Amino acid sequence: MSSNRPCPDRLNVLLIGGGGREHALAWRIRQSPRLGTLWVDSGANAGLKALGRPCPEPISGRELFRLNRWCDREEIGLVVIGPEVPLAEGWADELAGEHRLVFGPGKSAARLEADKAWSKDIMRAGAIPTAEGRTFTRIEQALPFAETREEGCVVKASGLAAGKGVVVCDTPEEAVAAVERIMGTDPERPGRGEFGDAGTTVVIEEKLLGQEMSVLALVDGRSIWVLDPCQDHKQVGEGDVGPNTGGMGAYCPTPLASEEVMREIERDVLVPTIDALRREGITYRGVLYAGLMLTAGGPRVLEYNCRFGDPECQPLMSRLKGDVLEVLWATAAGQLDALAEAGRGLETDPRTACCVVLCSEGYPGSITTGHPISGIEAAEALGEDGEEVIVFHAGTTTDQEGRLVTNGGRVLGVTALAADLGRAQALANEAAGMIEFAGAFHRSDIGGRVLAPRVP
Ligand code: AMP
Ligand code: GLY
Repeated sequence: MSSNRPCPDRLNVLLIGGGGREHALAWRIRQSPRLGTLWVDSGANAGLKALGRPCPEPISGRELFRLNRWCDREEIGLVVIGPEVPLAEGWADELAGEHRLVFGPGKSAARLEADKAWSKDIMRAGAIPTAEGRTFTRIEQALPFAETREEGCVVKASGLAAGKGVVVCDTPEEAVAAVERIMGTDPERPGRGEFGDAGTTVVIEEKLLGQEMSVLALVDGRSIWVLDPCQDHKQVGEGDVGPNTGGMGAYCPTPLASEEVMREIERDVLVPTIDALRREGITYRGVLYAGLMLTAGGPRVLEYNCRFGDPECQPLMSRLKGDVLEVLWATAAGQLDALAEAGRGLETDPRTACCVVLCSEGYPGSITTGHPISGIEAAEALGEDGEEVIVFHAGTTTDQEGRLVTNGGRVLGVTALAADLGRAQALANEAAGMIEFAGAFHRSDIGGRVLAPRVP
C-alpha cells in the first residue's frame, strides 16, 4: 500500500523479531524524534527488551487477527518486520491497514528469498547475472545430474532452511550426498529430507569463485536507495574454514566494490530484479538484499534475501545518520523520492563499522545456554576519540535473578566504528575480548579478506 500521507510527527512502532538485527534496528529507531512508543516481542533478547515495551499479544502467525486488533487499539502506525519467516508467511499483507504501514515486502515479493527455484526464474526473466543452475523436483532426475558435476557444484534446498540448506560440493559424490540429504532418498515420499518441505525442490548450480559481498537497498515500490556494501563472514572458523553459520561478523563499507561496480550492481541486478517482479504484477517494498559473488566475469547473484542481513544490519545501522524511522516509513509508504527532494535522505557516517559476533561454545552445532555475561560496559567504554563501540545483543536474556545470561548460539554483536577497517577490526576484537561468558568465542579476522587477502 503506498500512501500520500506524510510521516506522522508521532509514530507508534511494533518491531517484529527478537535477535541482533532487530536490536540494531531498535537502537536506531529509538533515536528518532518521531518515535511514540516502540513495542517489541516479549521474547526478544535482553538488549532489545530494554529499548521497547513488550507487546502483550503473542506475535505468532496463527494469531495475526489478534495482533491486528491490538495494533489498531494501540494506534501502531508502522510495523517493522525483521526476519524472513514472517515475511514469507505474508504478515506484511496481513498487518497493513488503513492507518498502518508495514516495512517489509508482502508474501508474493518475499518469495524471492523463500523459493530459490522461483527466484532463479526471476533472475532468468530479468537477465540478471547469476550462476547457471537447474531446478529439480524429482530425486531420480536430480541424482544423475549431480553425478556428472565433476567440476563441483552447489546444491540448494529451494525453501527456507535458516541459512543451512546450501551445500557447496567439490565432487560428484558430495553432490549426490547433498541431494539425498535435502530431498530424502525415497522418490515416492518427497519432503522427508533434512529440511522437510523446504527440500522438496532443489536447485543445483555451478560453483562460483570470488569474494562475497552483501548489497542491500531500500525499495519503496518505485525508487531504490542502495546502501553501502557489506561483507559477511559465514564460516565458523578463522580463515573461512568449518561449517557455515548465520554469520560470524560483518563490516561496512567494504572496499571490494568500486563506485563503478556498485553502479553496475544497481543497473544490472537491483533495478532489473524490481522490474522483473513488476512484470509478474508484484510490487517490492522493504529492503532487498542481494548476496553476490564478485567473480572474474563480474558480480553474480548467489541469493536474494527480503530483509536486512544479520549481522550486516549491525554495521549498517551503526553508520546511518538522520531519522532512520522516517526513512523506514517512507520506504513503506512509497515516498523515498519525496524524502530525497526534501533533502532528508540518508547520510552515512564516514567511519568503517566492524561487527564481531561472540558465540557460544559449540555453535553452529549444539550449545548450552544460561551462562552469565560480564564486561559489556567496559567493552563499550573502549576506543580513542572519534571511535565508538556498540554491543548489540543477539542470543541473550535475563535469568530469574535478573542476571544477563546467554540464550543462543550467536550471543552478542560487538560493533566498532573507527577511521578505517584495520582499526575498526582491532577495536572490535579488543572489545570482544573484554566480554566474558563460559565458552565464548569469536573470529578475530572479520575483514581479513581485504586487509590481508589470501590467494584463492
Ligand atoms: P545462499 O544461502 O544461497 O547465499 O548460500 C549460502 C552460501 O553458500 C553463500 O554465502 C556462498 O558462500 C555459498 N554459495 C551459494 N551459491 C554459491 C555458488 N553458486 N557458488 C559458490 N558458492 C555459493
Ligand atoms: N548474514 C546473512 C544473512 O542474514 O542471511
